[in-house]
Amino acid sequence: MSRIWCLAALGFLHSVLLAQSGSDVEARIGALLSRMTLDEKIGQMSQSTAMASPISAQIKAEIRAGRWGSFLNAGSPADRAEAQRIALKESRLGIPLLFGRDVIHGYKTIYPIPVGQAASWDPALIEEAAREAAGEAAAEGIRWTFAPMVDIARDPRWGRVAESLGEDPYLAGVLAAAMVRGLQGKSLADAASVAACVKHFAGYGAAEAGRDYNSTWIPEILLREVYLQPFHAARQQGAASFMTAFNALNGVPATGNRFLLEDVLRREWQYDGVVVSDYESIREMIAHGFARDSRDAAAKAVAAGVDMEMVSTTYFDHLKQLVESEPIRASQLDGAVRNILRLKFRLGLFDQSVTPPREIEPGAAALRLAERAAIRSAVLLKNEGEVLPIASATTTVAVIGPLADSRADQVGTWSMDARLEAVETPLAALRKALGPDRVLFAPGMRNSRDRDRSGFGAAVDAARRADVVLLFLGEEAILSGEARSRAFLDLPGAQDALIDAVRAAGKPIVLVILAGRPLTFHDAAAKAATVVYAWHPGTMGGPALASLLTGKATPSGRLPITFPRTVGQVPIYYAHLNTGRPASDKELGIPLGNPEQPAGYTSKYIDVDFTPEYPFGYGLTYTRFEYSGLHISAPSIRSGETFTISASIANRGAREGVETVQLYAHWRSASVAQPVRKLLAFQSMALRAGETRAVSFTVSTADLSFYNARLERVIEPGRVELWIAPDAAHGIAGEIEVR
Ligand code: NOJ
Repeated sequence: MSRIWCLAALGFLHSVLLAQSGSDVEARIGALLSRMTLDEKIGQMSQSTAMASPISAQIKAEIRAGRWGSFLNAGSPADRAEAQRIALKESRLGIPLLFGRDVIHGYKTIYPIPVGQAASWDPALIEEAAREAAGEAAAEGIRWTFAPMVDIARDPRWGRVAESLGEDPYLAGVLAAAMVRGLQGKSLADAASVAACVKHFAGYGAAEAGRDYNSTWIPEILLREVYLQPFHAARQQGAASFMTAFNALNGVPATGNRFLLEDVLRREWQYDGVVVSDYESIREMIAHGFARDSRDAAAKAVAAGVDMEMVSTTYFDHLKQLVESEPIRASQLDGAVRNILRLKFRLGLFDQSVTPPREIEPGAAALRLAERAAIRSAVLLKNEGEVLPIASATTTVAVIGPLADSRADQVGTWSMDARLEAVETPLAALRKALGPDRVLFAPGMRNSRDRDRSGFGAAVDAARRADVVLLFLGEEAILSGEARSRAFLDLPGAQDALIDAVRAAGKPIVLVILAGRPLTFHDAAAKAATVVYAWHPGTMGGPALASLLTGKATPSGRLPITFPRTVGQVPIYYAHLNTGRPASDKELGIPLGNPEQPAGYTSKYIDVDFTPEYPFGYGLTYTRFEYSGLHISAPSIRSGETFTISASIANRGAREGVETVQLYAHWRSASVAQPVRKLLAFQSMALRAGETRAVSFTVSTADLSFYNARLERVIEPGRVELWIAPDAAHGIAGEIEVR
């Protein structure tokens, strides 16, 4: 190689490396900003849904003029390629567009809904699924997704429980970070990476009465201890963007909330990513009663730190005038535009040599991963008489229920790009696994809300001819997700009546529930020998369930959210405070007559057991685990020190299984009362039949810190109870003193 060629090659390499470096990016942003007109800056701050397929002449002209910085849910891969070409080659400054879309739990290949993925308690698996989903979306030109949703969800009436990672801030934080890693990969500039958007900042999950979009009132101490924690975990993981929430938090809409966006996110957390509003949430500040009109809404959103407006056009309509008449400083816009351009540089969108988007289909590796994820997310809630796994060589099964063969319901909410042709339902998979002759099918109902009982006869007939009934009940996909709050959590339609009808056949019932939220099904569960909670398990939910039911795979999922006995207990969550009058398990009945009974004045219900139907962290397997030998390395520690807590976990059954071991803590007394239990850590381990293994956690006093009444994070002296446990209601306990 000649010397000159060598130098040229080195120079090229140097410039490539420089392009990745932060200071070079900042310099390029600065250079671009200095050339941008006010209109072009406002364009970058605007995101639209208006790019249909084919792209209209008007939208093409607007892209050329720099009117838009981003499109949401826009066009086909070919349209996106064309729009990007126009932006790069024909707009004055050649600033690329950023295409966003809701890739929430898969793109073409669908994984279990997020709350189902959370039931795997498996960050590595969740990261892998997010990586695959990012690869599929990025190949089609989508480089920004609006996930993960990390709103703490403690109210199953709220339909977006489906999209959440459950009720616990620690678990949700660990899993959110895994999703961010998967979506963004090692580098955003990788063509298979997609920028994450952590949402909805903040407090959205605490919607009053579980009604979507409703207001939330969260004291700052609870906000920091619980609701903000998973957002912080995602921010620490390097999430590229944040989305503001629709709700008002303590009276101030999240989209105009300077405390959240400026004080917490930008200042305390030193965040330099993009903040995007939710869909029209800037304009909605008028309806909230927070902004006088759309001009005021734009001013308040910009002042709070919302960089990009999703769909509504208050920025386009008013920012120019607001800057010219000076209620808004031009430098405020520059900050927002900088954040947006920084993301575009980090994604490598300015690089014109990137392969244009192309249509893709679910690949074999993605389908295998989706099956694995669906297996890990299913939670075995009951297995009486060990009806499961069914003896696949001899058993004839009756497959019954409206959700046994419904592709669209299996993939769940947020599956607009799902390849439904690739979905394999439980019916199809069971026919494959057992042979068509041993599977009798009678759905009984047309959908989960059906009240018509005319299909019951055929279902009962199938049950009579079979050895076991596999009953696929639950909720259709459309009953959970955004704007799908429910005031009743029971099985909709005539499903309870279907169970009663089928029961008359006298065969053991395996109840498989597909749903987007915790449902209440106490009576149905009592009538079944076995209950498997499958959530909406995604493209490969059918094969996953067939493997679980026939014992080719073993259940290992754990509930990431408490299941109530009845909707009247909601909100119900494991990390509650003890109260001054905690109830005990013995105080369930209503006394007869009218006795004066001071002993019964405890925090309970007189008409239902106060405990949950199934606690947080709960899930059975086909084997049985025993916990023993709890050991804590020191009786006491000082602030700044660490200790280890360990135990033996033994598989006492005849099959292998995965146990998710959980570590909980409780401060016996503190300057601010602490929850009866708080999850500190967890570990999953696979144990062969008869195997015993040690589990050990290292805990630092920082892990034991909490917010005091002055909102300082402190480690107070005191006694802390600790549990190594299979769920939030059981376990073996010890204690340590913090000095
Ligand atoms: C509204 C939803 O709240 C949000 O989660 C979603 O990402 C946007 N719409 C875009 O579709």
